Amino acid sequence: MKAFVMRTYGTPDDLALTDLDKPVPADGEVLVRVRATSVNPYDWHHIIGQPYIARLMPGTMGLRGPKFAIPGCDMAGTVEAVGSAVPGFRPGDDVFALLRDGGFAEHVCVPADLLARKPANMSHEQAAAVPMAAVTALLGLRDTGGLKPGQRVLVNGASGGVGTFAVQIAVALGATVTGVCSAKNGGLVRSLGADEVIDYQTADFTRHDKRHDLMLDIAGSRPAASCRRVLTANGTLVLIGGPAGRWLQPVGHMIGMFAAAPFVPPRIAMADTGRCGKKKEHLQTLTGLIEDGKVIPVIDRRYPFAEISAAVEYSAAGHVAGKVVVPI
Ligand SMILES: NC(=O)c1ccc[n+]([C@@H]2O[C@H](COP(=O)([O-])OP(=O)(O)OC[C@H]3O[C@@H](n4cnc5c(N)ncnc54)[C@H](OP(=O)(O)O)[C@@H]3O)[C@@H](O)[C@H]2O)c1
Repeated sequence: MKAFVMRTYGTPDDLALTDLDKPVPADGEVLVRVRATSVNPYDWHHIIGQPYIARLMPGTMGLRGPKFAIPGCDMAGTVEAVGSAVPGFRPGDDVFALLRDGGFAEHVCVPADLLARKPANMSHEQAAAVPMAAVTALLGLRDTGGLKPGQRVLVNGASGGVGTFAVQIAVALGATVTGVCSAKNGGLVRSLGADEVIDYQTADFTRHDKRHDLMLDIAGSRPAASCRRVLTANGTLVLIGGPAGRWLQPVGHMIGMFAAAPFVPPRIAMADTGRCGKKKEHLQTLTGLIEDGKVIPVIDRRYPFAEISAAVEYSAAGHVAGKVVVPI
């Protein structure tokens, strides 16, 4: 099989298209012929090995080199073979999953407890756009944020991968949404169901007159003390991401937000998809919303498999509207 391999930290251009043996599924695993993947900021962080502070954090990156050889955490494809002790999957089934690694390849072995059936009304390309971004949005809104029908949500960073899913999921869960994005993406965010849109280039959303029950902070552009102004007295601020940096960011931003927590009345919590133990259940919930027509992935660009480095570079520039997908 062909796969994009990185043996040392470097740049997306250092990803090497390599011929490897097709993997063999172990007990409890399923071999999937990958039909599409999508790109996330997570992939770029793991390719370049930054921020450096993350190399010191247990369970994240390797200290001197990558923990895994093949990046790519989003995958949609077709089951090719099934290991022993895997009930429920057969060759030919269309599936998708949120992986730790291995998605930038023609084949991947996936533990069955991560694998969900692909939504019936979606192509592999559309399904591959879903896992990391939509699971993060669902986790942040419903599980960490405790969103209830009738509540008001502010999504800071509403036009990116996580944000375009967050707006749609919040609306599907019965919330009224304010989206923060640039003017060029205002129409997109409104079309996804946002009641109101604030242009971050011309207005400070933390000076907005409305109060919200929940703020999903995907862009990480303002300090906690300012964000509290858009929240009700019992509101919740859920941290998802922030601007990338070489040494600390976005980890430093999260640490700063938590350091301010004792002095900021609303609750502050972090949604960490990497540590979420219910990825398959979340994909199944998302499949329900997708098949009901309540959530539709927004695809900004498609790149051929051979040009995956360019796809990662485009994502890393930080201005994707929706998702970047790569058919394989
Ligand atoms: N905690 C977790 O488990 C988890 C999981 C997934 C992602 N993340 C993190 O969440 C963040 C976003 O991920 P993503 O996949 O959504 O990234 P993305 O798709 O690359 O997001 C890009 C979007 O952010 C918008 N944006 C940039 N600066 C902004 C600002 N100051 N205010 C509002 N919007 C702004 C851009 O709009 P313009 O083009 O208009 O600037 C663009 O549409 C990253 O930091 C990522 O690492 C965390």
